[in-house]
Amino acid sequence: MPGRLFPLGGPVSEKDIVDREDFLVSLGTRLSEGQSIMLAGPRRIGKTSLALEVLRRLKAKGSYVACVDLFRYNTKKELSLAIIDACLENRSGLSKTTTALKDGLKKITGGAKLTAKVQDLEVAFGLPSENRSDDELFNYALQLPEILAKRDNKHVVVVFDEFQEVIRIAGEDTLKVMRSYFQRQEGVAYLFLGSKEGMMNTIFGDKRQAFYRFATILPIPSIPTEAWKAYLSGKFLEQKISVKDRAISEILNFSGGHPQDTMLLCSEVYYALLEAGEEQLTLDFVRTGYSRALLTLSPVFDELLDELGKTTNVRHVITCIAKGLRIYSGNNSNPNEIKRAVDLLISKAVIEKSSRGSYYFVEPMLKNYLINKIDIY
Ligand SMILES: Nc1ncnc2c1ncn2[C@@H]1O[C@H](COP(=O)(O)OP(=O)(O)O)[C@@H](O)[C@H]1O
Ligand SMILES: [Mg+2]
Repeated sequence: MPGRLFPLGGPVSEKDIVDREDFLVSLGTRLSEGQSIMLAGPRRIGKTSLALEVLRRLKAKGSYVACVDLFRYNTKKELSLAIIDACLENRSGLSKTTTALKDGLKKITGGAKLTAKVQDLEVAFGLPSENRSDDELFNYALQLPEILAKRDNKHVVVVFDEFQEVIRIAGEDTLKVMRSYFQRQEGVAYLFLGSKEGMMNTIFGDKRQAFYRFATILPIPSIPTEAWKAYLSGKFLEQKISVKDRAISEILNFSGGHPQDTMLLCSEVYYALLEAGEEQLTLDFVRTGYSRALLTLSPVFDELLDELGKTTNVRHVITCIAKGLRIYSGNNSNPNEIKRAVDLLISKAVIEKSSRGSYYFVEPMLKNYLINKIDIY
């Protein structure tokens, strides 16, 4: 069975990062200078991939790095241990140092060695125990990056992925606690990522919020068409599949260069070629791959549309935008309601406003899906 040619559904490895080189360099430079950064954007556009690539590069240059994905945790205690483990990995080389310390110490050979590696960090203090509250554990976790930076004379970079989840995990007041620790730390820079843009922009951009002006907010650049073309042609050629420029352009037309949709579409095109035993990528195969990719995406899109459809006028608005019709005409409803529907679609990162004031879809495949769906009715 052939391996996966196009990466899908998770952060991509170093060799599959398509372009964004300038942005990666800029991120790396800012973080190593101690600047903290916030990146917000819809899911599946490559935020985690960018962050992990930056960390790989910073680590190669000698920084300590830590990455915590908040989607994975439900309690303050879990989050604290995740931060502690991510920090300690720089010393221990283990992903779960706290577990190893706690239950393996006597049994594992090398247990003593492991303790020796971390004992100056008062790690015992960072292990959960009956007489320690979750808050104490959390406070220790928040200080650990700076303790490490000082002890080892290292620059430390910490990534919080899906940072907005901190409110679900530990409540809104947690933000104040976090900021109070972070702002005093000199050897640590933070990279905050989040897929709920509205929440992220509030946390970092609202004067009344704890993280106001703590991090520089950067827009995430899209992947240039030329970079996609070079990458995709190379990938197919690697498999001895000859490509026509027109076919590659058509792929990008369909996907709009959206990172994951482009990869999904190419994956489907590739499997269609394999099944047919063909070695030439033609427009026909692009179309077959496209139909299959839409089929794969339809449950995702349907779920999204169901959820959005609960709000009045959203279906009307989204349909008009997909068809290129004016949203304020041909409907008797109140302009305020229409405006609210538009705002919801923007906050859910379904549409964006162009510099010319019109709206466009973040995922062109969703737009086409909608148009096809309407045609069926
Ligand atoms: N720089 C990139 N180059 C190529 N493909 C990418 C890139 N970034 C993301 N992708 C595609 O998007 C998918 C999701 O990437 P991920 O980093 O998990 O996004 P996010 O964190 O924004 O949800 C990847 O599996 C891959 O298919
Ligand atoms: Mg992610």
